[in-house]
Amino acid sequence: MAQKVAVLGTGKIGEALLSGMIRGGWAPSDLLVTARRQERAEQLRTRYGVEAVSNAEAAKAADTLILTVKPQDMGTLLTELAPHVPADRLVISGAAGIPTSYFEERLAPDTPVVRVMTNTPALVDEAMSVISAGTHATGAHLTLAEEIFATVGKTLRVPESQQDAATALSGSGPAYFYFLVEAMTDAGILLGLPRDKAHDLIVQAAIGAAVMLRDSGEHPVKLRENVTSPAGTTINAIRELENHGVRAALIAALEAARDRSRELATGNNN
Ligand SMILES: NC(=O)c1ccc[n+]([C@@H]2O[C@H](COP(=O)([O-])OP(=O)(O)OC[C@H]3O[C@@H](n4cnc5c(N)ncnc54)[C@H](OP(=O)(O)O)[C@@H]3O)[C@@H](O)[C@H]2O)c1
Repeated sequence: MAQKVAVLGTGKIGEALLSGMIRGGWAPSDLLVTARRQERAEQLRTRYGVEAVSNAEAAKAADTLILTVKPQDMGTLLTELAPHVPADRLVISGAAGIPTSYFEERLAPDTPVVRVMTNTPALVDEAMSVISAGTHATGAHLTLAEEIFATVGKTLRVPESQQDAATALSGSGPAYFYFLVEAMTDAGILLGLPRDKAHDLIVQAAIGAAVMLRDSGEHPVKLRENVTSPAGTTINAIRELENHGVRAALIAALEAARDRSRELATGNNN
């Protein structure tokens, strides 16, 4: 019998997954969604031909539940769900920062839980989804979670102890690149380029560099050396980056993101 999968709290990430799964070959009839607002449920029904049900109905009917509400809404959702989730159901959490133990404490004993930290490029099928098993999740549960998240990008298994670091690197990662593009566009304007042209130049340089990093098999240092000729323009720019401590700033920034992820795991949402 086909696996029934329910996406609970189908917002941006939930919809990206739903769309990815359908494009990846899941039959809409094997998928259920839940939403907090009626109009959102209707929108998902119309767009994807899936059934929209209540959280309790999804918990009873689906073999796998993917929870994609915001971390601050997870407690309420679990209170609603817990009485209806049989212990043999796989629960996948897509929420940032919340440990698998949080779910295990609130669901029936032995419920398998898998934690996934994805990122917004899931919206364009270029996600990095980092996957960890809870106490009762088996290899088969991890494989199923990988199959689901592979429909929107790459996946990587890590021990749960590495999730806060992964959140700092790939979860928040896209924001660092947007920040760089924004700053480099400002630099382009300072150098006399119109904003739209500066933006296009930097975005294409970013895409080109990203594809080289992914596909060339070369170390980033080698790729950078290839653009850095003796007494050339690039080395002058690199010297300024080093003078301004950009490398140290990035290390400190990622450390701060890792620390905040740890803090969120302890329930500090302020
Ligand atoms: N966005 C990111 O950058 C990102 C990256 C990685 C991971 N994540 C994780 O992915 C999760 C979802 O993020 P998102 O950006 O997709 O948020 P989102 O767009 O706000 O989606 C969450 C959805 O859940 C709905 N919801 C809340 N409580 C509910 C309930 N009790 N029953 C049914 N539906 C409920 C919300 O309804 P309303 O529309 O009424 O609010 C909303 O549509 C978060 O836990 C986040 O940590 C996000």
